[in-house]
Amino acid sequence: MDPVLVPLESRRPPRPAAAAAAGAPVFDRLGRPARDLRISVTDRCNFRCTYCMPKEIFGPDFAFLPRSEILTFEEIRRLAATFVALGVEKLRITGGEPLVRRDLPVLIAMLAELRTPDDGPLDLTLTTNGSALRHLARALAQAGLGRVTVSLDSLDDDVFRAMNGVDYPVARVLDGIEAAREAGLAPVKINMVVKRGVNEQSVLPMARWAREAKLILRCIEYMDVGHTNGWRLDDVVPADEVVAAIDAEMPLEPVRADYPGEVATRWRYRDGGGEVGVISSVTRPFCGDCTRARISAEGKLYTCLFTGDGHDLRARLRDGTSDADLLALLAGIWRLRDDRYSELRTEATTALPRVEMYAMGG
Ligand code: GTP
Ligand code: 5AD
Ligand code: SF4
Ligand code: SF4
Repeated sequence: MDPVLVPLESRRPPRPAAAAAAGAPVFDRLGRPARDLRISVTDRCNFRCTYCMPKEIFGPDFAFLPRSEILTFEEIRRLAATFVALGVEKLRITGGEPLVRRDLPVLIAMLAELRTPDDGPLDLTLTTNGSALRHLARALAQAGLGRVTVSLDSLDDDVFRAMNGVDYPVARVLDGIEAAREAGLAPVKINMVVKRGVNEQSVLPMARWAREAKLILRCIEYMDVGHTNGWRLDDVVPADEVVAAIDAEMPLEPVRADYPGEVATRWRYRDGGGEVGVISSVTRPFCGDCTRARISAEGKLYTCLFTGDGHDLRARLRDGTSDADLLALLAGIWRLRDDRYSELRTEATTALPRVEMYAMGG
């Protein structure tokens, strides 16, 4: 039942430092192109998920970023356009919770105008907890958003209320998912972080529901991002275990990756009832094909989810740096990239300094 692995067709040997040119893709030291840019538009969130922003730490007195330190829409657009010139084809808007950022559809409209160097459209998507989708899905779709991924960890109301940390009812997220569908934001994917002893019993009900509702469920291994969630290896439910449990009830077969470097390993129901994915960043890391760059709300560029610090781009955006110099700066950072944290993870590395996921963007 081994999944089909695809080679990274476009992988090329690292090139020596060369002048950056718009339209010329860059490759890092491990031969990985920059394909996927994840942009955090806020460090705030209305949830307090236990694995991300535990409420004991992110209480009423927690100091989030002041507005002056957050990138403006124009600054975000400029960075996105520069990354697109370097080969990025997918933009994912994240947070915190991105829908708490005021006027988000205005930013979406600005990003939807961007084109790849050969004049193709971008894959423009967003990760949300779903709580504001009933209110915003239509405006986002009209602004040019293509699709959404909604985080949902259980259909059991008690389990979900406990995991989101703010007693938020599951019915309202389900209604948000429905709103996304009505607005044509398809396909809707559902991200479920699976934590041992907390919501592993929810996997099968979630799989049955998603299959029936024609949503793409992805079960994610609980990761050691940041330092606040008290991660322990024992809390991780291996993706293989999740696949085996689903397969025992609803037989599965592997699906080819959609694109090189896809995060999720995909499976389809043998009876044609849709697909499900697992994201196994702990038990089967996928750094070898990692084409993801992240920009935090304050304008730091992170070349790995587990790095201790980012590159300050906001200063460059605000000091008159020219477009050509910005392009050269980003290309230079990417060419030096050699991150592969998940492949090197040990008990010791989990103690290294690193940024919280809510601050960097999932
Ligand atoms: P699609 O564009 O729909 O294929 O989404 P995606 O596969 O990029 O996945 P998504 O952005 O929904 O990410 C799902 C989850 O996978 C995230 O919330 C993280 O938990 C995890 N993840 C995503 N990217 C990375 C990564 O670069 N490294 C690690 N270790 N985990 C990641
Ligand atoms: N482990 C795995 N995924 C996480 N996310 C946040 N924290 C973690 C973690 N510790 C992911 C969830 C959520 C997205 C916003 O971030 O998938 O859907
Ligand atoms: Fe908020 Fe998403 Fe983090 Fe949950 S996982 S606290 S919804 S940013
Ligand atoms: Fe990419 Fe870092 Fe995640 Fe590996 S650990 S897949 S290099 S973000």
